[in-house]
Amino acid sequence: MTDNRTFLVVGAGQAGGWCARTLRSEGFEGRVVLIGDEAYAPYERPPLSKQALTGEAAVESAYLWPPDSWDGMGVELRLGWRVESIAPDEHTATISGGKTIAWDRLMIATGSRPRMLEVPGADLAGIHTIRTIPDIEAIRAQVAPGRTAVVVGGGWIGLEAAAAFRKLGMEVVVVEAADRLCSRAATPATSDYLLKLHRDNGVDVRLNCVVGRFDGDGALERVLLGDDSVVDAAIAVVGIGIVPNVELAESAGIETANGIRVDAFCRTSAPDIFACGEVTSQPVWGRLESWENAQNQGIAGAKSMLDAGEAYGEAPWFWSDQYDVNLQIVGIARDWEEEATRGSAANGAFITFYLTGGKIVGAVAVNNGRDLRFARRLMQAGATVTAEELADPAVKLQALLKR
Ligand code: APR
Repeated sequence: MTDNRTFLVVGAGQAGGWCARTLRSEGFEGRVVLIGDEAYAPYERPPLSKQALTGEAAVESAYLWPPDSWDGMGVELRLGWRVESIAPDEHTATISGGKTIAWDRLMIATGSRPRMLEVPGADLAGIHTIRTIPDIEAIRAQVAPGRTAVVVGGGWIGLEAAAAFRKLGMEVVVVEAADRLCSRAATPATSDYLLKLHRDNGVDVRLNCVVGRFDGDGALERVLLGDDSVVDAAIAVVGIGIVPNVELAESAGIETANGIRVDAFCRTSAPDIFACGEVTSQPVWGRLESWENAQNQGIAGAKSMLDAGEAYGEAPWFWSDQYDVNLQIVGIARDWEEEATRGSAANGAFITFYLTGGKIVGAVAVNNGRDLRFARRLMQAGATVTAEELADPAVKLQALLKR
């Protein structure tokens, strides 16, 4: 029996790409249409602020699968197309240019966009964000040893860019509005660690500092900071957070709250309309900005579209690479009763566990992905542990999982 349904996926990023592919790998025999407004087949964004920025990896290495493999997968990939509106009752979507597509089930995977800095001169040439392949190409065209880059925002994007610029032999000034780095996702101790790491690597980090204006004749020449200091620079990167692309859903009357509201099965408030990835706000963890979530929620969403879904809601996991440091975080520890550290910063590798009520609520690891994997499993299992045993190198984390 042939399936004559059409499943439309809007947004050809990592989440949308995984969703479309999973529809096929799970045996869906109807039409799968994947529409994206970027010019590129689905790719992963983490390398953009790391190896692609330093030039150690070609931007093409970021593709999820070779761009010419989508046809063979049976996915109708339409790049450079933008869905302008969706009509939930009619089950249609209108594409830029006026074409209408009828769908039986719809997945919204529209992701997010960089938040812009609203100060004078913010549109001068030489001021960049890091989100897309063209962003990286534009920055790469300007980098050179000895040049100065101003990085606005000391979050993940800003710090990874700072590390990449240093690796390229550039001078770097990081301008962070808050009193610590990465305050949204990192614990205060992690922020302190990152501050020392960057200062030790020669970055001029300015906390409690903002940009007053960008200045230059057509292109950036200098940045005037809120503390009245001036930095001469022709390159600036702005990484001050992202804004979820909810407008398409909102104008169709779908419920949003800092993201499109979905349940554990990626269902939105509208029948037959699902959402996945960074644009969603999900039940336990809210809106997650992570590589892993983009992939796994995309897969989970595809299964739900096929009525074969399982509840999705795993604890978030993030990583960052800066200099020779690999940082990994599980959970989002905002408050905790106790903490325990295994290893030490002085030795270059450690993990700090955060506990409440004898259970792990989050962990941060530096050059210690192995222990972080155990922390994650202990957390998922809801295992009861003590700070003493977690800090004791003689106690094997595996053993805690088994008891
Ligand atoms: N001036 C300076 N700093 C600012 C300003 C401002 N006007 N506004 C915000 N900031 C700071 C915040 O205090 C924060 O430290 O910018 C930082 C933004 O950090 P994140 O919220 O982590 O966002 P960003 O680094 O842009 O990353 C965006 O890309 O790699 C992914 O995981 C990352 O999903 C995240 C996304």
